[in-house]
Amino acid sequence: MDQEAKHMESPSIVLESLNGWRRTHDCGSLRPEHVGRQVVLMGWVQRRRDHGGLIFVDLRDREGITQIVFDPQADAEAHETAHALRSEYVIAVQGTVRARPEGMANPKLRTGEIEVLVYDLKILNVAKTPPFLVEEETEASESVRLKYRYLDLRRPSMQANLRLRHRAAFLTRNYFAERGFIEVETPVLTKSTPEGARDYLVPSRVNPGKFYALPQSPQLFKQLLMVAGFERYMQIVKCFRDEDLRADRQPEFTQLDLEMSFIDEEDIYPLIEGWIGVLFKDLLGVDLPVPFPRLPYREAMDRYGTDRPDLRFGLELTDCTDIVRGCDFRVFRDALERGGAVKSLRLPDGGRLSRKDLDDLVQYAQEFGAKGMAWAKLQPDGWQSPIAKFLPQSVRDAVTEKMEGRPGDILFFVADQPAVVHETLGNVRTRLAHQMGLVPKGEYRFCWVTHFPLLEWDADEKRYVAVHHPFTSPLEEDMDLLEVDPLKVRSRAYDLVLNGTEIGGGSIRIHREDVQKRIFAALGIGEREAREKFGFLLDALQYGAPPHGGIAFGFDRLVMLMTGASSIRDVIAFPKTQKATCLMSGAPSEPDVSQLLELCIKVEKEGR
Ligand code: AMO
Ligand code: AMP
Repeated sequence: MDQEAKHMESPSIVLESLNGWRRTHDCGSLRPEHVGRQVVLMGWVQRRRDHGGLIFVDLRDREGITQIVFDPQADAEAHETAHALRSEYVIAVQGTVRARPEGMANPKLRTGEIEVLVYDLKILNVAKTPPFLVEEETEASESVRLKYRYLDLRRPSMQANLRLRHRAAFLTRNYFAERGFIEVETPVLTKSTPEGARDYLVPSRVNPGKFYALPQSPQLFKQLLMVAGFERYMQIVKCFRDEDLRADRQPEFTQLDLEMSFIDEEDIYPLIEGWIGVLFKDLLGVDLPVPFPRLPYREAMDRYGTDRPDLRFGLELTDCTDIVRGCDFRVFRDALERGGAVKSLRLPDGGRLSRKDLDDLVQYAQEFGAKGMAWAKLQPDGWQSPIAKFLPQSVRDAVTEKMEGRPGDILFFVADQPAVVHETLGNVRTRLAHQMGLVPKGEYRFCWVTHFPLLEWDADEKRYVAVHHPFTSPLEEDMDLLEVDPLKVRSRAYDLVLNGTEIGGGSIRIHREDVQKRIFAALGIGEREAREKFGFLLDALQYGAPPHGGIAFGFDRLVMLMTGASSIRDVIAFPKTQKATCLMSGAPSEPDVSQLLELCIKVEKEGR
């Protein structure tokens, strides 16, 4: 039997009830001015230290830690009982606040100048030895933390994250309520929504063989609320998407969802900048410069290779296609003959990268579909590069000049289809910035990415699909391209990006039935499919839909970036793993056979 178990059974531990004791203070609030006060504190035992005759306990509650002292001279019984205290026992103490002796103050604790000399102790509950110490720095693996999430959540940083999240939600509701927004709840058991991920389905018992879909977003309902005349809607709402999970993706996540009538983009941008400004000022004390810069999608791709550029560092891409066109270098020539491009990235002072660093980078580039990545170290006397011999001096000079290269710099080149070039160099850019320490700490760089293409080509399905969703308005001036050059049509969709993460996205919607029909035609969505999927929205558009638009934010992502957490799991109380499981509750689990029978569902796992 281990030490703790013995204690739990030991007759010396008598669990007591509160019996009218009331906390006078929390464990974070006592200061020198309280010296001499009689106080009642309650909380968890963080640590117990026996120092000869004295026993010291760090008592923790959600507000902080207070050192309490058991002295046999002060109270022999309390001192005797205190021997039994172990980590995470729940106790209540009565005592007197006293100043810590000269030189014993602990500047790391807010209560570090005082301690409480205990004269009465109640053990309210015992605890098994926790699988990890409830301390800020934990060595526990994430799976252990998730299994014992209620212990993990006791750690100060997790408490702080969830508090900040609470404050952010509170300020958000306030901000939008003050501006006339009404929070309306939308259904969770509903029909498929058009966000493009896989749906979570819920079988209907009373309609055998039929399923609800959990909403990927309230998109259709918020548009219906505009038709219904609410004009300004907001909701902090759970959304569900069955997609591959990453650090910033959960199967169920929270959106701040908004929709407004009689507005255009110029109403959305300042409204959102004002809201984000309030959050950052109130919660982080950061003054954000507004307005946020705006980048058309095309420009974002050209300069950063991505539609969610991290603007905390430079390393912009340069198009060298025209300079190298006509060269004899097979790799470049082949790419250009197939309609590709050659783009380059200059890393100032990159010459200090070792051969191994470069090999690793090339390997990394290949993960994004590039066949290779060439590099050139700029020396005072010219290029040191495996491809130098393939390019004439004049071309090398022209490239160096266009890229403003200086001795000590290194240039990276990728030749391929533009999509591959952008994906590759966009990722190499971010990796290099982190690797070379070019990402400043504590900086928040926002930007709006605007004018996304309306459509993209889905090679699997062999048809155009909406980049955003099929209710996004095309730019009026591009409408005539819809039937002749669909990929050129720009939309009225916008994303808000923070430090390279997409935190929100939305659009001005189509509110006219004739326009909606043209878009469905371009998407190859027939009348029947449209009716089946979104019939109720199409019906509603016929009853006086106002011009409207909106946006939704990944609330978890925003809070993650504000807290500096590296995963949204750290700002969600009970998150799922990468495999969409909950290690604590064991969800998802197998239902009872009787439940399946009732639902008329037979599960076949073979062949999967
Ligand atoms: P969108 O699909 O861009 O737009 O989603 C809006 C924001 O939600 C966040 N997000 C996620 N966060 C965590 N886990 C996920 N799996 C996840 N998926 C998305 C992102 C994203 O920017 N109805 C439209 C909005 C509109 O048009 O008004 C929508 O849902 O931060
Ligand atoms: P190879 O002739 O394939 O050995 O390639 C010669 C050089 O070109 C090597 O440094 C490769 O890394 C580089 N390279 C290969 N493919 C590409 C590409 N698609 N874009 C840029 N550089 C490439």
